[in-house]
Amino acid sequence: MNITKTIFILTTLLSLFTPFINCDESSTKTIVKYTKSGKKLCDKGWECKGWSIYCCNLTITDYFQVYQFENLFSKRNTPLAHAVGFWDYHSFINAASLYEPLGFGTTGNKTMQMMEIAAFLGHVGSKTTCGYGVATGGPLAWGLCYNHEMSPSQKYCDDYYKLTYPCNPGADYYGRGAIPIYWNYNYGAVGEALKIDLLSHPEYIEQNATLAFQAAIWRWMTPIKKSQPSAHQAFVGNWKPSKNDTLEHRAPGFGVTMNILYGEGVCGQGDVDQMNNIISHYLYYLDLLGVGREQAGPHEVVSCAEQKAFNPITKASSS
Ligand SMILES: *[C@@H]1O[C@H](CO)[C@@H](O)[C@H](O)[C@H]1NC(C)=O
Ligand SMILES: *[C@@H]1O[C@H](CO)[C@@H](O)[C@H](O)[C@H]1NC(C)=O
Ligand SMILES: *[C@@H]1O[C@H](CO)[C@@H](O)[C@H](O)[C@H]1NC(C)=O
Ligand SMILES: *[C@@H]1O[C@H](CO)[C@@H](O)[C@H](O)[C@H]1NC(C)=O
Repeated sequence: MNITKTIFILTTLLSLFTPFINCDESSTKTIVKYTKSGKKLCDKGWECKGWSIYCCNLTITDYFQVYQFENLFSKRNTPLAHAVGFWDYHSFINAASLYEPLGFGTTGNKTMQMMEIAAFLGHVGSKTTCGYGVATGGPLAWGLCYNHEMSPSQKYCDDYYKLTYPCNPGADYYGRGAIPIYWNYNYGAVGEALKIDLLSHPEYIEQNATLAFQAAIWRWMTPIKKSQPSAHQAFVGNWKPSKNDTLEHRAPGFGVTMNILYGEGVCGQGDVDQMNNIISHYLYYLDLLGVGREQAGPHEVVSCAEQKAFNPITKASSS
């Protein structure tokens, strides 16, 4: 009697998971073509579309699966968390699919691909954590605990941008998302890129996890200034530092991604907690993914303690 019951429950559980397995398997059919110059281009359907060299490589679902996402963000749906039920694997993968043809998680060999996902999610985890000191599971298990700033002290409307990114009178531009977006001009720029009117509807970012991840991956893939690398390019090594960069201790690697995304707020300040917290998430995720933190390289590559900021905080961008 008991045995039959157990088998029945197991079967039910298995059938619950089957749709995901099917969905992932259907994504692996690759169509290949060659350009006149002999360059190989691929299209993998929904996850990596549009004849790209990057789509010939593994895609994210090949090496990063639901259980790994659950491992990285294991506490996000506990009753103590602040965005219970919001973040999930499929939102991340859907969002990533927009950028995989451009090289997000599809550049270099499998180790490099997994490292980029750990690096990107390391930023996400450290910016959305509510795990401090004594948290159960350790302070690094609480990434994706938030999806927006809890007690904004202001509306984050900068009138300097009133012609390009005018504030909507009813809207507040407080921190929202996976790598939180603050200020009208940042909502304006992301909205322009994703073709969604975020100046009128900044709240979409805290209502839609796919959009929240898309905005964060866009930030990762897009240089702050045209003359500078994106975090993606700097991380995967598609960026050649100038003499100035070298003089100012900026070298390809994880450290410089913090410089690009946060500048003086985190970098060039020595071994400060804010920087170390981001690094700790990255290294923890490398371990959980089975890549191992030793792959991250020496401290000066992982850290930005000695780097001069790409973009010093100016009045316009800090007011
Ligand atoms: C695809 O993967 C191979 C090895 O796994 C790597 O050498 C190559 O650089 C990758 N392609 C791109 C466009 O990154
Ligand atoms: C993967 O690429 C990285 C850097 O791009 C390199 O250091 C490493 O040796 C490569 N691993 C394998 C197994 O080819
Ligand atoms: C969430 O955002 C994505 C990406 O912009 C969009 O495709 C989807 O329709 C949105 N979902 C809802 C429920 O609005
Ligand atoms: C190099 O850095 C200095 C000081 O940060 C700056 O004034 C100069 O314009 C930079 N040169 C180049 C070529 O970027």
